[in-house]
Amino acid sequence: MGTTVVVGAQWGDEGKGKVVDRYAATAQAVVRYQGGANAGHTLVVGGQKTALHLLPSGIVRAGMENFVGPGVLFDCDVGAAELAIAERCGAKVFLDHSAPIVLPIHRIIDAARETSAGGNAIGTTKRGIGPAASDFWLRRSLSLGDLRVPADIRAVLTEGGYFAELCAIARQHGGPATVPDMELDPYSLDATIAWCAEHGKRFAPYLQDTRKMVWGLIDHDAEVVFEGAQGVLLDTYHGSRPYTTSSSCTAAGVSMSFGVYQFERVVGVTKAYATRVGGGPFPTELADVLGEQLRERGHEYGTTTGRPRRCGWLDTVALRHACRVGGVTELVVTKLDVLSNFGALATCDGYVFDGVVETNPGALTGTVLRGARPHLRAHAGWEGDVTEARTIDALPDTAVRYLEHIAKSAGVPVSGIGIGADRDAFIPCTIVP
Ligand code: IMP
Repeated sequence: MGTTVVVGAQWGDEGKGKVVDRYAATAQAVVRYQGGANAGHTLVVGGQKTALHLLPSGIVRAGMENFVGPGVLFDCDVGAAELAIAERCGAKVFLDHSAPIVLPIHRIIDAARETSAGGNAIGTTKRGIGPAASDFWLRRSLSLGDLRVPADIRAVLTEGGYFAELCAIARQHGGPATVPDMELDPYSLDATIAWCAEHGKRFAPYLQDTRKMVWGLIDHDAEVVFEGAQGVLLDTYHGSRPYTTSSSCTAAGVSMSFGVYQFERVVGVTKAYATRVGGGPFPTELADVLGEQLRERGHEYGTTTGRPRRCGWLDTVALRHACRVGGVTELVVTKLDVLSNFGALATCDGYVFDGVVETNPGALTGTVLRGARPHLRAHAGWEGDVTEARTIDALPDTAVRYLEHIAKSAGVPVSGIGIGADRDAFIPCTIVP
């Protein structure tokens, strides 16, 4: 019994949804604590695929309590669509009345800034995350609880010329006239208020003080899973700024938004190789046929945007860093099956700066990562299909050696291995560093 935090130990897209789903099997509650609809968590149950972006992965389980905490940037359209999935599955949902709202105009600003940045674009998901997070820290966001009363919505949006300022920023950056998949005029105050109020009616029965409820569960020793989005290497503090997202993707994100500090375990999720989507330095990127092979075999295309992901060898320097700053106590390695029949493998076990190999470069700032050349170590690959393996003994020896290397380099045990998309394609294990 206790609290489990699941965080991405790379640049997102590690397969956290599946890992959360496994822990959810014995838990009472699943809690989303940071990020927004920029996330894409794919669950495959009995061959049926569900892609979630905002609500916790527990919404596919009947009776499960699912919380969206005060640190989640709430996208109302996505929230409404996923609430319908939760209702169909018979799951319970509680939305924090303090969760800040991503307005349609935030999405316009995000897209406009990206376009006007040209070659320096961050490669965001254009979900309005950066602009909405900025407003949260500027202490002027509309929150879910405000949506119940149209007069409150108007008051927040007009206070200090808030909405007018957002429209001016959007126009200054040459913002588009419309938001994809939305009919409303994002520059219209009245249309935005009406959109908010409509959603407010839908969400009203689900609003709660989720902090109080989650504290209550923890006090009663209930099993609670905190579900991270993105990955530690995209964390606003610890990632390669400005090529990061706008939230705390580490276990500290739970502490920041829920005030919870004691965790039974923090599970970092890493693929057996590496991917990154969007811009920013990526030392082990394979911009060649091997990278293409990884992309095709691993179906490495974004769940949220459909963009092809950049692929490369596993970077154990970045992984060790992610475990340290992410608070990770154990690792799950996903997509091991993608590396079967791949030939010889490699991991990056050091960064080369001016001809000198550094294995402990400290904070992985943008400058550090940009200057890093990978120091690769070769590993023997393995032949055959591992997707039917359900114990570590059923894996080829070289696959086990590869996993042992990951545990040793990361400095934390590997406690699970993903060998396919389905819920059951998983090997629990203990591989000590
Ligand atoms: P934003 O979070 O939409 O502002 O995007 C900032 C950076 O984070 C971009 O490089 C995105 O591609 C990346 N990013 C955001 N969410 C995810 C995710 O769920 N998986 C992988 N990358 C993400």
